[in-house]
Amino acid sequence: GDSLYKGITKAGRKFVGTALTLRNETTEGEIIKQEFNSFTPENAMKWESTEPSRGNFTFADADRYAAYAKKNHLQIHCHTLVWHSQLPKWVSDGGFDNKTLIGIMEDHIKAIVTRYKGSCTRWDVVNEALNENGTYRSSLWLDTIGEAYLPIAFRLAKKYDNKAKLFYNDYNLEYNAEKTAGAKRIVKLIKSYGVKIDGVGYQAHLASETTKTAPGPAPDQKTLEAALRATADEGVDVAYTEIDVRLNTPATAEKLAVQAATYQRIAASCLAVKKCIGMTVWGISDKYSWIPGVFAGEGAALLWDEDYNKKPAYYGFLKGIKGN
Ligand code: G3I
Repeated sequence: GDSLYKGITKAGRKFVGTALTLRNETTEGEIIKQEFNSFTPENAMKWESTEPSRGNFTFADADRYAAYAKKNHLQIHCHTLVWHSQLPKWVSDGGFDNKTLIGIMEDHIKAIVTRYKGSCTRWDVVNEALNENGTYRSSLWLDTIGEAYLPIAFRLAKKYDNKAKLFYNDYNLEYNAEKTAGAKRIVKLIKSYGVKIDGVGYQAHLASETTKTAPGPAPDQKTLEAALRATADEGVDVAYTEIDVRLNTPATAEKLAVQAATYQRIAASCLAVKKCIGMTVWGISDKYSWIPGVFAGEGAALLWDEDYNKKPAYYGFLKGIKGN
């Protein structure tokens, strides 16, 4: 039958993924098998999940995702190695000096990347290193190591898995040109160290109307394509990595139609850019989206409603994928 990832014929092989939290939801599993050929573990591979105390690696949960991918023939967009958030306290409050922190980074990257070598098609090596004005975000990493932490992280990821595609991943790159320029600068920085970077991930946490926490409507297709090209022109691949399109809840038919058109042009923009290698939507059902818990009064951002019915957004996204 019809399906999101099978819809991509014209542009060759682009992945269509979802964020995955394994839970007892039969319908969710069926949807994943039918509609997607890739997933991103929503939390299971983050630092706090995989190294809760120093040198104590807890792989049981992440291993389930690797097994799930293998069983269902899915790619994994592995997420994420170096980030300021979801760090265990022993890292964030450790007060480590430069040399020690680089060692901690290497131990972590070595353990995780080695463990999932062959399972990870792509890795988000560094996540969210930029402020909205395109400067580097102050974080444990930047403040201790300086901007060199970026090329160091990529060099280490390559050292332990020379096949996975290595990504820099961030949000608001879709419409904030200053921040997009920052991402371009990061690509150049990493390359200037003679280190490999394969791609830039555009998270695409967007809104179809203005909300308290996001500008709306989401960018038009030309803007989206230009944003993708801004970093792709540096010779890297690009991808949408965490798409959701939120609105002020409750949703109405009219709002859902605007959202559907937004999903359509997001997909169409990726299809129009040769170096856009795929798209991941950040979840399946509105029932489990991260948004309402973090941004009160906002949500209904995904392709399936709380009862797993396909929303207009599903059909919009499919249209964008199929180019009609
Ligand atoms: O697992 C614990 C549970 O034991 C505890 O009882 C419960 C109480 O709060 O928390 C649970 O952890 C939660 C975790 O999700 C797993 O459900 C955390 O509180 C919660 O903060 C965490 O949220 C995740 C968030 O990242 C954290 O920053 C979301 O699920 C996840 O969708 C979200 O994803 C991020 C990407 O990684 C990076 N880009 C932005 C995106 C959205 O924020």
